[in-house]
Amino acid sequence: MDKNSYIGVFDSGIGGLTVVKGIVDSLPDENIVYFGDTARVPYGTRSKRQIIEYALSDVKFLATFDIKAVVIACNTADSTAREEVMAAYPEFPVFGVVDPASRMAAKTTRNGRIGVMATKATAASGAYDRAIARYNPEAEVFDMPCSLLVPLVENGRFLPGDKVAEMVVQEYAQPLVDKEVDTLILGCTHFPLLTDILRKYYPELNIISSSGAAAQELRESLEKAGTLNDSGKPGTHRYFVSDDAAQAEEIARYFMGSVLDSRVEQVRIE
Ligand code: DGL
Repeated sequence: MDKNSYIGVFDSGIGGLTVVKGIVDSLPDENIVYFGDTARVPYGTRSKRQIIEYALSDVKFLATFDIKAVVIACNTADSTAREEVMAAYPEFPVFGVVDPASRMAAKTTRNGRIGVMATKATAASGAYDRAIARYNPEAEVFDMPCSLLVPLVENGRFLPGDKVAEMVVQEYAQPLVDKEVDTLILGCTHFPLLTDILRKYYPELNIISSSGAAAQELRESLEKAGTLNDSGKPGTHRYFVSDDAAQAEEIARYFMGSVLDSRVEQVRIE
């Protein structure tokens, strides 16, 4: 394992590419291997036991590469299975999305009231509440399970002007705004794509995407550990999914646009 080793990133599906995009933007020299478990997505509606089992098999696949760190891009997996992943793979550092977003929210809220939009499993785990309390014990956190948003985004319905998307986003965001939150964490891989709609209706909100915060934390940690890839050459990126690759590539464009620079490959994992 050295500076040139891969950063392994996994998600329940394609949404985790929002995190890859954040990493590529801030760490362009890094080699990245991505695994999206498209055969078993969604994780957000599943039981804790099932999410842990899936997350461990995702990392088992990533560990077949020469990796120097793993990033759990999936908020659901991070909030439910992080400790199990860390215990099973002590040989590399494991980064997530919940902690960096919580730290940023705790630091930037002005009134101490923070809303979290997430999947049902993430909201039920209480992971954001615990993480925010570590950074700001006074903060009040309001979790909102948003089950309809993942399928909406995966069907390309996330742009301002889309009446259905706007209505569903407001359905989930308005109760949080009514609780007077000044900061909103987008605690799901898919939700950064809904930022424009949220800004249209709630321009005053401090919106924190877990993807952006995660990339920033990864950079700081690699720098500190002396394992940052500073080769000056653009990194190699490999993308794997567990179901049809062509279908995944189509959805991947929503999340990464032209940053998706190589073909998606299908693999069978255990
Ligand atoms: N990747 C998941 C998350 O960030 C959303 C999709 C799913 O439910 O699997 O929570």
